[in-house]
Amino acid sequence: MPKILTTESGAPVADNQNSTQAGPGGPLLIQDQQLIEKLARFNRERIPERVVHARGSGAYGYFEVTDDVTPFTRAAFLGDVGKRTDVFLRFSTVAGNLGAADAVRDPRGFAVKFYTEEGNYDLVGNNTPVFFIKDPIKFPDFIHSQKRDPYTGISEPDNVWDYWSYSPESLHQITWLFGDRGIPASYRHMNGYGSHTYQWVAEDGSAYWVKYHFKTNQGIRCLDAGQAAELAGADPDSHQRDLYQAIDRGVFPSWTLYVQLMPVAEAAEYRFNPFDLTKVWPHADYPLQRVGRLVLNRNPDNVFAEVEQAAFSPNNFVPGIGPSPDKMLQGRLFAYADAHRYRLGVNHTQLAVNAPKATTVQNYGRDGLGAVNAAGRAKNYEPNSFGGPRQTDQPLAAPIAISGWTGPHGTTEHAKDDDFTQAGDLYRLMSAAERDRLVANLAASLGQVTRDDVVERVLPFFQAADPEYGRRVEAAVDALRNQD
Ligand code: HEM
Repeated sequence: MPKILTTESGAPVADNQNSTQAGPGGPLLIQDQQLIEKLARFNRERIPERVVHARGSGAYGYFEVTDDVTPFTRAAFLGDVGKRTDVFLRFSTVAGNLGAADAVRDPRGFAVKFYTEEGNYDLVGNNTPVFFIKDPIKFPDFIHSQKRDPYTGISEPDNVWDYWSYSPESLHQITWLFGDRGIPASYRHMNGYGSHTYQWVAEDGSAYWVKYHFKTNQGIRCLDAGQAAELAGADPDSHQRDLYQAIDRGVFPSWTLYVQLMPVAEAAEYRFNPFDLTKVWPHADYPLQRVGRLVLNRNPDNVFAEVEQAAFSPNNFVPGIGPSPDKMLQGRLFAYADAHRYRLGVNHTQLAVNAPKATTVQNYGRDGLGAVNAAGRAKNYEPNSFGGPRQTDQPLAAPIAISGWTGPHGTTEHAKDDDFTQAGDLYRLMSAAERDRLVANLAASLGQVTRDDVVERVLPFFQAADPEYGRRVEAAVDALRNQD
């Protein structure tokens, strides 16, 4: 027996090919439920795309602890060696709209949801250890400058570089982005970073500042500008295709998670402000310590339900892990859940991909559009005398010491903090061939800028990072801009 086609309410559909007419050749009748429902539903298929990171790919898997980190955090999912926790990971590009090509020069998102027994822990990172700016109040302007111009409707090098020319703190990330790793060959062949500094707290109350590094076990592979342009045209979906096909073939990508740990007491005197997102902690200062392995082994069954509707929030912590005072992170603690309430609705946490899997939600949040878990007859206020859920009185993370006056402050500078040293360090780490490509990539973009003042404002940044870097970028840009 073939399956019966039904309406949304489950009634059999008599005809899915011919609309109901008022006689042969006549107008259509509003009583044709199948026609009306199909057209109306079709009109509502799209939801707002993410304002950034719209284009992405996701997969399920697990995280396995390989090394004991219990002296540093009491997070249960990082407990016993060998312990496994289910995860969902969404990779993304940042600037492109839904449907944009994957093989482009752009940071990649690396957002992990750990379905732990203490609730979902979301680590919403990128494939870059640093970021362009260090204050969230700049984020909407920064993103506007990188995405489509309101008049031309396309991304404009003038806007891109105009913004950067007023944000010298971007140079470290710019150097990263225009270098080889700026265009990963696929999502499988890149690292992931938490980027921000977070807090870990152990059972005995000792607290650490922590940075996360997921190192790809597939090896780093990148595309040069020419290869990427070709691939973006030939197969705009190259990253998505690569990821789902690898998992379908049983070739499961994996990453090894390392952390850098800084005892809280060392932060005040560290030579770089450890909460400045434009800086790394050199590994010589804080070496990588291995934690575990993340494996992706299952494709989502439905891209819309599980990838488009996935919602990650940097404020989804579990006991033993908390935020740092990094201003960017603090801004993000607000931005994401707010974005989800707008894009997916107040009950987005009840969607299967977002709901906790290893524990149950028990609270007094109620109702709203699309509520599935309405909590039945349970009382909807607290405190109550009916055995409803109660607070634990156990702090989730350690308190953070503060001092001084309220006000719009810049990021506090430590002894070695400036906008250029670490960008220069990254340049000096590169081989001669890598530097050649970096300079050529920068010139190809900066060379398209039409305004002299923008170019003149930005060139000294390269010079300040490294005199050779400055000389070479200037010469390459001049050559391109003075061609005609
Ligand atoms: C203040 C700075 C930032 C703000 C205000 C911000 C805001 C946002 C917003 C509104 C979204 C869309 C969320 C959605 O609709 O699902 C988003 C996505 C994302 N952001 Fe940020 N962002 C900031 C910085 C960062 C940084 C520094 C990183 C990485 C370290 C990052 C990584 C991501 C990722 C990976 C996604 C996509 C998540 C997914 O796959 O669903 N963002 N961001």
